[in-house]
Amino acid sequence: MDIEGNKNMCGIFGCFLKNEKAAPVIHSSLKRLEYRGYDSVGIATLFDGAVFLKKGQGNIDEVHKSLDLDDLPGNIGIGHTRWATHGAPLQVNSHPHSDCTGKIAVVHNGIIENFNDLKLELQNLGHTFVSKTDTEVISHLIEEVMKSKPSFSFADAVQEATKRLEGSFAIAAISSHEPDKIICARNESPLVLGINDNTGDVYCASDITAFLLLTNRVVIINNGELVVLTAEGYLIKKIRDNSLIERVPEIFQWTAEMAVKQGYPHFMIKEIHEQPEVLRNTLRLQDHYLDLMSTFLDRATEIFLVACGTSYHACLAASYMFSKIAFLPTYPVYASEFIEQYGKSVNIDSTILAVSQSGETADTIAAVTCAQQRAATILSLTNAIGSTLTRISRVYIGTQAGPEIGVAATKTFISQLSVLAQLALRLAKKRGKVSQDEIDTTEEQLDKLPEIVNSIVKTQEDKAKQIAHKYAKSNIFFFLGRGISTATAFEGRLKLMEIAYIPSLAFPAGESKHGPISLIEHGIPVVFVCQKDDTYKTAISNIIEMKTRGAKILAIIEEDDDEVKALADDYLEVPKNIPGVLSPIPFTIPLQLLAYYMALEHNCNPDMPRNLAKSVTVK
Ligand code: M6R
Repeated sequence: MDIEGNKNMCGIFGCFLKNEKAAPVIHSSLKRLEYRGYDSVGIATLFDGAVFLKKGQGNIDEVHKSLDLDDLPGNIGIGHTRWATHGAPLQVNSHPHSDCTGKIAVVHNGIIENFNDLKLELQNLGHTFVSKTDTEVISHLIEEVMKSKPSFSFADAVQEATKRLEGSFAIAAISSHEPDKIICARNESPLVLGINDNTGDVYCASDITAFLLLTNRVVIINNGELVVLTAEGYLIKKIRDNSLIERVPEIFQWTAEMAVKQGYPHFMIKEIHEQPEVLRNTLRLQDHYLDLMSTFLDRATEIFLVACGTSYHACLAASYMFSKIAFLPTYPVYASEFIEQYGKSVNIDSTILAVSQSGETADTIAAVTCAQQRAATILSLTNAIGSTLTRISRVYIGTQAGPEIGVAATKTFISQLSVLAQLALRLAKKRGKVSQDEIDTTEEQLDKLPEIVNSIVKTQEDKAKQIAHKYAKSNIFFFLGRGISTATAFEGRLKLMEIAYIPSLAFPAGESKHGPISLIEHGIPVVFVCQKDDTYKTAISNIIEMKTRGAKILAIIEEDDDEVKALADDYLEVPKNIPGVLSPIPFTIPLQLLAYYMALEHNCNPDMPRNLAKSVTVK
């Protein structure tokens, strides 16, 4: 039985209970969804013909402590635990979101791409918005349909409203106009129903974890479907043509732990599999964020790309992207070295682009604070909106990857690369130094990356597992790449080292003959990241250098690369014709899989590598 992963951030839950108060059940179900997001939470219930609502900033326990989330009347309700994408994690941006009258409440997981246009349209019709979220347009849109089409039922109004939405959504909505139902709808973001035959209760949720302790009878909702939950059970129809769909519940034999990991044995592999969807989300970034940040970068006198660990590798890759297509020089710097290296020279003319998954890494915050005190402009990319980094940045962009639980950064790295590539493309357009043809091709390929990454995960996972088994006894690995693939090689090495504990070295391939090559002896595996760009011919010479000294060549190549296939002992492939500046995205995937399966070969828990923390808040 197939169920989808964490399509993006946030968890939604709704329930129609026969004999119980809804709020405590919603509260405990949201707790089980907290791994999907935890920066704010809210619940709305229906009772006596009215909507009751509580919401606040903070994780569920914090908000419950101050608001008592269980203390809401009624046996029908919806709830939400949030990971911010639009609008900081503040009380006002928390879900559920209401319309102007307070008679409608909506929770949403996903990203509404056209929310700015819809908001403007609704504001012109007199609607007042209180939040900065994309979700709030949904409740006002439903309100507007109900106002303009009085014959419409609540379900009709939700259906009509969803037809106007572009992007991804799983929503649950209630209204005091019809206080005996919950309406849900789905496009791309996951939505499932739980049917409790013992009690007659029905649930809707982002995933089955939310209600698994109550029932394992599950109905999966597909894209373009709308659901009406009532005392009688559930009714599913197609949003497009109103046709009814009959679907009986399936039985899920998952444990609660399996459910949180969507059936995967570890978060890391689950998060690797989520990468196509994460890329789709990053491609939905609002244009004005990218425009604003690229304008700052375009005007900057000197630009430092500052980060630690994997985020530093994203910066390193970005320095090639910015240079190659935008002709913009930038300086990637380890955050832990920034103050010593540039602390005295950074000034009002300097611009810092800090990259951090957590937005809390002590070294990154220290570097940024130092630069800020010297009047530099601070820009940032982070996966945690509301984090310290966002608070000290002039402009920030959320990388849209959703919470990452595995300590090893995987999907957040891919999302950083995607946002940085989009910024490079904006800059390329602004600066007009490369041909429109090159920009068009790169943009076309960027749009295809979710599918490309999906195919890599599907086709290379078994091969990566076999290669990990074959090389499991090797006690040292080399990782080499030229040009932008240096960053990919560095990332592949970090992944292998941090989760499989195998000492590994990574160098730009050209550097290896200036020292590291003396370590090469018969049988040492050398992982070559070999994209077909301007560096290709020299990379082949480097492969031959290693091979003639007895190294085992493990190449990451494009699928039509017969030349390297003939030289390599083993290879993992990615689709062909990927522009060099985008290559770190697909080429990193086989390296993540290799590291993951190598960790399993060594009986290491890839989710919790020793001595490491997800967020390093000490210097
Ligand atoms: O949250 P940040 O992106 O600032 O974290 C930086 C590093 O600590 C992080 O990337 C670390 O290297 C990961 N364990 C890599 O998998």
